[in-house]
Formats: sequence, C-alpha cells, structure tokens
Amino acid sequence: MLYSAVRKILFQLDPEVSHDLTIKSLKNTGATPFNFAYKQQVPSKPVQVMGIHFPNPCGLAAGLDKNGECIRAFEAMGFGFIEIGTVTPRPQPGNEKPRIFRLTQANAIINRMGFNNKGVDYLVEQVRKAKYRGVLGINIGKNKDTPDDNAKDDYIYCMRKVYNFASYITINISSPNTPGLRSLQYGDALNNLLSSLKAEQTALAAQYDKYVPLAVKIAPDLTEEEIESIAQCLIENDIDGVIATNTTLSREGVEGLEHSEEQGGLSGRPVKDKSTEVIKLLAKALSGKLPIIGVGGIASGKDAKEKVEAGASLVQIYSGFIYQGPELVKDVVSAI
Ligand SMILES: Cc1cc2nc3c(=O)[nH]c(=O)nc-3n(C[C@H](O)[C@H](O)[C@H](O)COP(=O)(O)O)c2cc1C
Repeated sequence: MLYSAVRKILFQLDPEVSHDLTIKSLKNTGATPFNFAYKQQVPSKPVQVMGIHFPNPCGLAAGLDKNGECIRAFEAMGFGFIEIGTVTPRPQPGNEKPRIFRLTQANAIINRMGFNNKGVDYLVEQVRKAKYRGVLGINIGKNKDTPDDNAKDDYIYCMRKVYNFASYITINISSPNTPGLRSLQYGDALNNLLSSLKAEQTALAAQYDKYVPLAVKIAPDLTEEEIESIAQCLIENDIDGVIATNTTLSREGVEGLEHSEEQGGLSGRPVKDKSTEVIKLLAKALSGKLPIIGVGGIASGKDAKEKVEAGASLVQIYSGFIYQGPELVKDVVSAI
C-alpha cells in the first residue's frame, strides 16, 4: 500500500488518535497474512554490535511501540531490530492530552507523553506472545511518582522482569518529560546508577547463564564537557552501548511555526544535526571502546549515512518513519 495515501488520512486526525489507530491495526495484523499491506523485503546487511548479530543496521526507536504490541508488524517492515518501551514498573497514564504535536512544515514532532505505558508485566506478556526471533531492545524507565532518590530501584525492577526476554536493555535517562530524569545523566548520580545496574547485570547473567548488553540513551542537550564525562563514566562502568540521542528541548529550526511553543521534546529534522554532533563528540571521547546507536532526524538514506560517518554502528528511526512510512527502512538499509 502506498504510504503517502495512508498518511494523508492519518494526518487529518489528531496525532494521538492516529497513533492509537495505527498501533491497533498493526497489533491485529502483524502476525497474519493481512500484513501484506506493509510487509517488504529489505536487503540483508548483517552487522555484529554489542556481541549481537543484527540482520541490518536500521532499528525502530523507542516510544512508538511502548507496550511491545506490534513487534511482528515492525518485523514484517524489515527493521533489523526493534526497541520497545519506554516501560516502567507500574502502569501509568502519562501527561494530560493533547501531548503530541506535528510540525509538518519542519518534518518534526513535539511530544510530552510522559512515559504512558501499561507497565512491565503487560509488556513482557506481549513479548512472550509475539514469539519474535529477531533482535529486541527493551527500553526501561522510572515511574513518575517514584522519588528521584529511588530511581535506581525502578530500573532494577524492570531489568529483572525483562532480562530473559531482551537482546539488549536500554536505560533511558534522557526523556525530557519525566521531571528529574535527565539529572541522572550527570556526575555521581550517573556513576551510582550505572554501577548498580552493572552489578545487577552481572548477577542476572549468572542466574540466566546469558549476557544481555546494557545501552544508555542520552539527550542531545549536553555540552562537550558533559558528553566527555558521560563517555568516561560509560567506559568505567563497562556499559555495552550508547544511544544518541533522545528528543531536544531546543526550538532551533522551528521558530514561529504552529505548535513550536508547546512544551516537550522536539524530534525529526530539526534535531538531526544536533544528534550527529553528539555522536561525533561521543565517538571521539569513546575511541571505539563502546558502540554508538545513532538516532535523531533521520529522514533519508543520506541522513543515516551521516550518522554512520559520525561514528554510529547502528541507527534508529522514529519521526522520519511517521513522515515517510516503511519505505524509509529500505532507503536507510540500502544507503549504509
Ligand atoms: C511521540 C514520541 C514518543 C517517544 N517516546 C520515547 C520513549 O518512550 N522512550 C525513548 O527512549 N524515546 C522516546 N522517543 C524518542 C525517540 O526514540 C528518538 O530518540 C527521538 O525522537 C529522535 O529520533 P527521530 O528524530 O527519528 O524521531 C519518543 C519520540 C516521539 C516522537
């Protein structure tokens, strides 16, 4: 089916209504013959990253399938890996609606969803049911009402629940929509969190006789010194990968557009160069000691190539996928 026709209809609806409708239909068709509507062949471009074999380097970024309900549908579209979540220990409703806005002229989105999700037990049940054999990232976070000082407990709780079902686990400390979350990216807070999660990973690896890599997802709104300090902390704590980046608080590139003043994280084309810059600085600071997954504003094969040239080993897409549909997966894989 031509995505441009589907998009025309979806973009006439409220963004969250259209999101929910899409999730529902992908959930119902993903593992059935009705997936012919979006199933496609994507070239095989195998890569080995974090000790995992990826059939191709283009992944779905976190936040689109927060509850892991459409894994088989995204598999049919040819994604080399799928990251579900962010999931929290307990279900939570997220922020008040409206909380997603399209800035169509800028190929951008602003969202302040606030980790709306059905909780980790529901997500694990979906993963079990999906019987997916490809690469699955599970992105974990903290509940809004968990005090910042106890954030670590929420991550550990989720790690224990998802460990046996994930190819890798993402520690999300970069959403701008959970108050206090981004403060975990700095100094002692980061070091304490990562050392505890590393110890938990070691214990779980022994328990399940299986090593599941840990990746940390960071924001684009960081100074050069902050990026260097995060890189050092990731190396010292033997973290397996880093995902750069989440959405930005900046409004550069969307000034004056409708919705540009809405609170939340901006994604899509306006965050592209900012994310690439973070990847470059990270690559320099990490000197190959851990791999980078590049995400932010990829809307073409050329954009994906830029991320790889900046130092990314894998890429992920979200907003570009909303604007262009499954065809973008093919373009990205073909280009890199
Ligand atoms: C509506 C929306 C919801 C998102 N939710 C999450 C989330 O739950 N967890 C997360 O780590 N990132 C989340 N993201 C961020 C994306 O995964 C990605 O890092 C960011 O949008 C930049 O990529 P893009 O420009 O390709 O969209 C969300 C993005 C959008 C647009």
